[in-house]
Amino acid sequence: MKVLVIGTGYVGLNTGVVLGFLGHDVTCMDLNKEKIELLRSGKSPIYEPNLDKMLELAYGNLTFTSDYDEADIPNTDVIFIAVGTPSNPDGSANLEYVQQAAEEVGKRLNDRFTVVVNKSTVPIGSGNWVETIVRDAYIEKHGQRPIHHYAIASNPEFLRQGSALYDSFYPDRIVVGASDSQAIDVLTNLYRPILNQDFNYPDCLPRPEGFTAVPLVTCDLASAEMIKYAANSFLALKISYINEIAHLAEKVGADINQIARGIGLDSRIGPRFLNAGIGWGGSCFGKDTAALVATAHEYNLSMPIIEAARDVNYHLREEFVTRVQNSLKILKGKTVTVLGLAFKPNTDDLRDAPSIDIIQKLLARGAKVRAHDPVAVPNMKSQYPELSIEYFDDPNKAVIDSDAILLVTEWPVYKKMDWKTILKDGKVKLIDGRNFFS
Ligand code: UGA
Repeated sequence: MKVLVIGTGYVGLNTGVVLGFLGHDVTCMDLNKEKIELLRSGKSPIYEPNLDKMLELAYGNLTFTSDYDEADIPNTDVIFIAVGTPSNPDGSANLEYVQQAAEEVGKRLNDRFTVVVNKSTVPIGSGNWVETIVRDAYIEKHGQRPIHHYAIASNPEFLRQGSALYDSFYPDRIVVGASDSQAIDVLTNLYRPILNQDFNYPDCLPRPEGFTAVPLVTCDLASAEMIKYAANSFLALKISYINEIAHLAEKVGADINQIARGIGLDSRIGPRFLNAGIGWGGSCFGKDTAALVATAHEYNLSMPIIEAARDVNYHLREEFVTRVQNSLKILKGKTVTVLGLAFKPNTDDLRDAPSIDIIQKLLARGAKVRAHDPVAVPNMKSQYPELSIEYFDDPNKAVIDSDAILLVTEWPVYKKMDWKTILKDGKVKLIDGRNFFS
């Protein structure tokens, strides 16, 4: 099938590469020319395990452009809108880029039936809004109403950064929301190799044993949109829940890891997303929980559970710094080494990363901050030049003569450090923000 993906962020690029690998003819479009140049040269503009390799494998089926006219919209079967939807100051999603993409698409649609898919996480109800924008742009161009020339669908993404390609090839489910049955058929055909798990998997991402099929959930537009928010909010509150339990566990002298295991073995609860620590960050949980609360407010509803999950989460960062302060007594003039800056391992993404808040608070209290991260240091330097941090390429050097070492992101490389020697004389405090060490 002929596919266009608008937006080459985590979601868009990953979608394009996976569909290209599966044999579809994919154009990836982004207005950012630098990104497109990089992609044309076979390099990924983002750090994501296996992405460079998969780009190479899918390259023959991929075209990159930053020009809508080159994207061949009139001959395309499926168009994914996968542009950014950053948060507005009130927590609602900024839909400027979605609107622009929908207008550009509407102007260029022609006689061929095309499915326009919202892949960006958009507020509930946006499917209808996009439909109106596409229709108005179409009418303006053609001077008449479209008659079944296109349909709008919602196909939310559930991939995690750091394992984006794995999650796309082997998802727990695929959700397609649309009121048009032909649109559902087109997307079912597009995803058939994944649904049936009958594609030849790439060597770098072997199929898990016993993984034979993927459930397809088809529903209306609004339900598909809400599934995305409800899933992310549930995961966020699961983490906040275990962090709240961890507070009490610490007071009563119980072990949160044992508790997580003990409750996680109950199949109704499940073992995943029960790692206690300094809580969630990243571009999704904070943004999506805020957007869900903002939508509820539009309907005069409150969402006390989700609001509490947010409060618990953001409070953890302050508590962590208080813990460092309690341990060192005085922070002023003390050398504190932060291990890990990215919001989670295997990514260089710093959006809503706990490290930022923690470092800002440490600096405000007079600590000297050193930092190491296997991949996120260049982003930190360029995005937060005002933070006075001494960066190190080698974590073993970063910790020499430190007063405290803070484990903020659980990169596997930190397990391999020579902890016996580092902690030998008992002078340095190791404060583990991720329950990473035994
Ligand atoms: C999350 C969801 O997991 C994906 O399903 C969804 O597609 C994505 O958001 C999105 O909406 O785009 P992501 O933010 O990439 O994915 O990463 P997660 O693995 O969910 O981790 C989020 C944060 O929670 C990280 O800061 C991580 O350190 C933290 N976390 C995760 C915990 O503190 N404890 C846990 O047990 C699990």
